[in-house]
Amino acid sequence: MENSGHQLRCTGCGRVSEQRELKADFRCPDCGDLYEVVYPSWSAGFAAAEEKKPNASALRWLWKERCSSNEEADQSGVWRFRELLHILRDEKNIVSLREGNTPLYPLRRTARSTGIAKLYAKHQGMNPTGSFKDTGMTAALSVAHELGYEWVACASTGNTSAAMAAYAARAGMRSLVLIPQGKIAWGKLSQAIDYGALTIQLRTDFDGCVRVLAEIVRRAPVYLLNSVNPYRLEGQKTPALEIAEALEWEVPDHVIVPGGNLANSSALGKAFLEMKHLGLTARLPKISVIQAEGANPLYRAMRENGGEALYPVEAHTRASAIRIGNPASWKKAVRVIRETGGWCEQASEAEIALAKAEIGEEGIGCEPASAVTLAGLKKLLCEGKVQSQETVVLLLTGHTLKDSDYTIAYHRGDLLRPDEVGALRAEMEMTRRNAVEMDASADLVLRELERAKER
Ligand code: F0G
Repeated sequence: MENSGHQLRCTGCGRVSEQRELKADFRCPDCGDLYEVVYPSWSAGFAAAEEKKPNASALRWLWKERCSSNEEADQSGVWRFRELLHILRDEKNIVSLREGNTPLYPLRRTARSTGIAKLYAKHQGMNPTGSFKDTGMTAALSVAHELGYEWVACASTGNTSAAMAAYAARAGMRSLVLIPQGKIAWGKLSQAIDYGALTIQLRTDFDGCVRVLAEIVRRAPVYLLNSVNPYRLEGQKTPALEIAEALEWEVPDHVIVPGGNLANSSALGKAFLEMKHLGLTARLPKISVIQAEGANPLYRAMRENGGEALYPVEAHTRASAIRIGNPASWKKAVRVIRETGGWCEQASEAEIALAKAEIGEEGIGCEPASAVTLAGLKKLLCEGKVQSQETVVLLLTGHTLKDSDYTIAYHRGDLLRPDEVGALRAEMEMTRRNAVEMDASADLVLRELERAKER
């Protein structure tokens, strides 16, 4: 086989291509749609010999066994599952920061308050650069490294750029970051700079950065690491494998994911479909996607035309990671929602802020974009689309320290306008914990301690 054994299949017209035939923008030359990675020896849709298919119980055993190995690839929560992401010719080209292997936390308080029997958070913010992007980046950047590129590039709302810059630095490669000026959280900008990326703030929004980058990859030999790159999604499958493994290969009833450029929901959907196809699991979870109300093109598309056509919007939300009006992978996300029987919901600024504070109160925390999952869960419960006896997993995509300005503004009480807070005022007040300032006196501190006991 001239590559590692994988091929690329267009999700629009089904055209199958080899890696070397891919265009710099990863679009199909026939229909312009996006590719997915497929494995002729076992993927659905290929007439593969049954004996070539990996054996489910052998895989489960092997993946667990690798957790006690000292090999770099085994210590990565992505490459530990390498039988399902056979995208490299040579494992020596793996660029890893020991990503993945993130915790699946029970959310006990929130389970009680929402009445859900089993509620978990899969915390992808516990990755090396603090977001779920690391799992996709180790995969796609390793491919770039193997292909011999010197430069990699992405347009980003912040997390992709932080991850790309870190992995490029590890591989001794150069990275170009395009971000919308003034529209990403400082923590993320500081990471890209710290890891040595050429960081350019463009006077536009994320969608404008994507347009500029599309021209750059046509005109210069830089490797595109946005999520249109199908190898990113192969790495982003692994949290689904980890969830299934942690639940003894019983999949949850429902997985709830934030929606921005809509690649992550697609990657997780692909993973659950593949696991079922290989007999690793017996069924599929419903996968639901939650968008911010001000950046909700998929929500609108599902409402207005059942996901047949998506009309870009001008995006506005303080959850800056998902401030995206023209999501690249929307068709893939529609397919996953349909195939798994999930939903698409939206959450207001106040609902997101309250949900984030509640996740913080669990001692877990997350960035605002991740909190749309809890805000969405509450809505799905009200609408009867999630039942209280179900097992639900919220995918928390980013660490709370990514956007500390947001957290501080919330607790200070000046994050939202009064008209945005609306009916949630009382609930928000219950969660607010602003820092108290005082002179350096033990008496004053003890008085404050007494006051706090009464609250
Ligand atoms: N949550 C966080 C924290 C994100 O950073 C992103 C996307 C998403 C959710 C949405 O995931 O795009 O796969 O639907 N951030 C990208 C970036 C766009 O540039 O960091 P998606």
